[in-house]
Amino acid sequence: MIDSRIESVLNFVAAGSRVADVGADHGYLAIELILSGRASKVIATEKNLHPFEALAKNISDSGLSSIEVRLGDGLKVLSAGEVDTICIAGMGGVLIEKILTDSPEVVQSARQLILQPMNGAEKIRAWLEENSWKIADEDLAESAGIIYEIICAEKNPQPKIFKRDTSPLMKKFLAQRLEKLQRIVAEMSKSEIARDSEKFSALIAEIETLKNNLQANII
Ligand SMILES: C[S@@+](CC[C@H](N)C(=O)[O-])C[C@H]1O[C@@H](n2cnc3c(N)ncnc32)[C@H](O)[C@@H]1O
Repeated sequence: MIDSRIESVLNFVAAGSRVADVGADHGYLAIELILSGRASKVIATEKNLHPFEALAKNISDSGLSSIEVRLGDGLKVLSAGEVDTICIAGMGGVLIEKILTDSPEVVQSARQLILQPMNGAEKIRAWLEENSWKIADEDLAESAGIIYEIICAEKNPQPKIFKRDTSPLMKKFLAQRLEKLQRIVAEMSKSEIARDSEKFSALIAEIETLKNNLQANII
């Protein structure tokens, strides 16, 4: 029922947690969290009415009373202390950052943030650092040929080797990222202002590092 992207999110959830699944859509993560015994309770939220109705029906059909559904924006429909773990998957990095920033009390009262941005993972890492969260682990997951990044943050994690560093998907992920950055640089090269920007220089530097790592086969 769940794909490897959602499975990677689920695998980071600490056993027995009360979990918020923000933007739950179909509710597959919420349902699997309870069926697998990983979570003790899930609050599944949706901002938009149409997916909310589908979510409410799926949860009702599942017969799982430990999943509650709430209609509303991000974490605004939760109170501080209601959940231990916040999962936000399948959204852009900017939207994830906004959802976290809009509800500081709820975020601060959680123990784990499990974030799967569709883009802008660097922004998420920067936000975590600025807000005193530490990255506890990271993973990669492939779904329909696309490789996704999954970030798990905690307040005081134990040091460990991240799953992503030994992932068999790492090389393919770096190759996909190289291709993406090369496309952006090609587009930016058409404008003199863009070529003179700090972002352009940073992209060129990252492309060089990616090429060297891939060529040296050190990943
Ligand atoms: C692409 S789906 C991802 C669904 C699921 N989380 C997953 O990873 O497969 C994004 C969902 O987030 C919902 N959404 C977008 N902005 C939201 C917000 N501010 N608060 C709650 N849900 C939101 C959308 O309605 C949509 O159902």
